[in-house]
Amino acid sequence: MNFRFAGAGPGVQARDGCSVELYRRLPYFGELEEYRALFPPGVQVVELGCGAGRLTRQLLDWGVHVTAVDNCPEMLAALPNGASPVLSDIESLNLDRRFEVALLASCLINHPAPDARFAFVATARRHLGPRGRLLLERHDPAWLRAIQPGSINPAGDIAMSVEAVRRTGDLVEMTLRYEIAGNVWRHSFVVAALDEADVEALLSQTGFGSFAWSGTRKRWLSAVVQ
Ligand SMILES: C[S@@+](CC[C@H](N)C(=O)[O-])C[C@H]1O[C@@H](n2cnc3c(N)ncnc32)[C@H](O)[C@@H]1O
Repeated sequence: MNFRFAGAGPGVQARDGCSVELYRRLPYFGELEEYRALFPPGVQVVELGCGAGRLTRQLLDWGVHVTAVDNCPEMLAALPNGASPVLSDIESLNLDRRFEVALLASCLINHPAPDARFAFVATARRHLGPRGRLLLERHDPAWLRAIQPGSINPAGDIAMSVEAVRRTGDLVEMTLRYEIAGNVWRHSFVVAALDEADVEALLSQTGFGSFAWSGTRKRWLSAVVQ
């Protein structure tokens, strides 16, 4: 099944519809703070779907060694100095080395295709050493099942709104609009609503356990190679 991923607005759009210029401008929202203990100086991290380096920059500031993977060359070109960029699809990544932490942020785990979700997690697994840790971010499934067109919480000087939503079972097709200083981007994508049990089942199949969810909306999950 082909799912629609598209983007529009100033600059280049990645294959998944994300705008390079938008992601270059988005700030770090503090999302890794709760997991600060996983990122001591010198730890080896593989960041899957790093984009323009919004999270990478924070990890580098903490003294982490970041191998930053993305399939969009223009995103990688925007990475901060100090990261090790790798141009690759996450699914086929094979670096022939092991890391202590794999980071799969930005709700990539909500990909609508089950085989892509499996491949993302399997990639994390084959790049982690014994007791290595996967940290992933997912969409709150209750939010996905309830969201309607309209503005969503502004973040700093970024105005965000949902322009369109269509649901087919657990699949949600959405168009988001972002505006920063008069520049407008649109991002259309499809995601699958995943409950905790769905994510844990997928991770169990790929050799992870010791699940720890965080926050009231359980948006982040840390799991350990078993
Ligand atoms: C939503 S952006 C987020 C970037 C970054 N994690 C952040 O939080 O700012 C998702 C990024 O993942 C990349 N991406 C999506 N699917 C991918 C895949 N299958 N393989 C490699 N990169 C992918 C896109 O090119 C994009 O740069």
